[in-house]
Amino acid sequence: MLIKRRTAHELRESAVTAERLFQQRRRFLKNGVYAGGMLATLGMLPATAWGLAARFVEQIGSAPNTVAMDAGDEELTSWEAITGYNNFYELGTGKSDPKRNAAALVTEPWSVRVAGECGKPGTYALEDILRPHKFEERVYRLRCVEAWSMVIPWVGFPLADLLRRFEPHSAAKYVAFESLYDPKNPLPGQRFPVLRWPYREGLRMDEAMHPLTFIAVGVYGKPLPNQNGAPLRLVVPWKYGFKSIKSIVKISFVREQPPTSWNMSAPHEYGFYSNVNPKVRHPRWSQARERRIGEFFKRKTLPFNGYAKQVASLYQGMDLQKHF
Ligand code: MTE
Repeated sequence: MLIKRRTAHELRESAVTAERLFQQRRRFLKNGVYAGGMLATLGMLPATAWGLAARFVEQIGSAPNTVAMDAGDEELTSWEAITGYNNFYELGTGKSDPKRNAAALVTEPWSVRVAGECGKPGTYALEDILRPHKFEERVYRLRCVEAWSMVIPWVGFPLADLLRRFEPHSAAKYVAFESLYDPKNPLPGQRFPVLRWPYREGLRMDEAMHPLTFIAVGVYGKPLPNQNGAPLRLVVPWKYGFKSIKSIVKISFVREQPPTSWNMSAPHEYGFYSNVNPKVRHPRWSQARERRIGEFFKRKTLPFNGYAKQVASLYQGMDLQKHF
């Protein structure tokens, strides 16, 4: 970008027709994420991650409950691509920088500040944020504004379930998010003013509460690698990937549309909404087609990244050329 479901996502596993699920499961098994593979990994994890990882085994490894099939039966993108080809400018602007610089991001201890129009503002330790939630798998397409895409098996929980715990007031019309930024100890990419740090994003309240909107804490059944936005990141599958802010440290309930990083940086190129839309060009390239990582031929980009049935009604009556 530098510039130069009948809510299928909530199908119970037992209700999902076998073949597709089986194929997905086989792929998970091939990637070695279940029981054996997971346990082998656990010994290497630091103490606080142990608790998190143990819950993966408990909730996903031995007793999968809900499974998302919102990417149809499309091939999952490989673990190597998902964790090795990233956009995370705090860790560098090159696609391989985030993995290379991943160790610079310290995720323990981690807390999230909750502020603004809500009944329960405060600073919450990661453990308290995660504890009440039941993790589930969601297989979603991710479409980057740069015209590449992936299919990613996330692990996490609906953002709505988290936000409700803070008792948002009716005056809260938007939710604003911020990523990690310590000016005294910047991450490698934050030494350069490529964006105004911290990275900021936002959603309208109804977008934030939509059942597809997800907080990811894992991928392929493993805790989220740092380069993918550990320890918790947003996933909004019908919007360009830059809306899916990584490594969240602050959530604010606000009355007005909040400023967002890419929109502040280039307002004529990146709108607040940034719904995937093959008909609205980026000023410097077409958005009609995309390169699925791992595939040779380009494929057509779908309106709302293929989630129009679930989300188009959120934008009824809006001019989506204007509100891009
Ligand atoms: N969040 C932060 N904090 N910083 C970033 O640079 N990049 C965004 C988004 N979230 C970004 C971010 C962009 S442009 C994309 S496409 C996705 O993260 C990429 O997510 P992935 O690397 O897990 O595929």
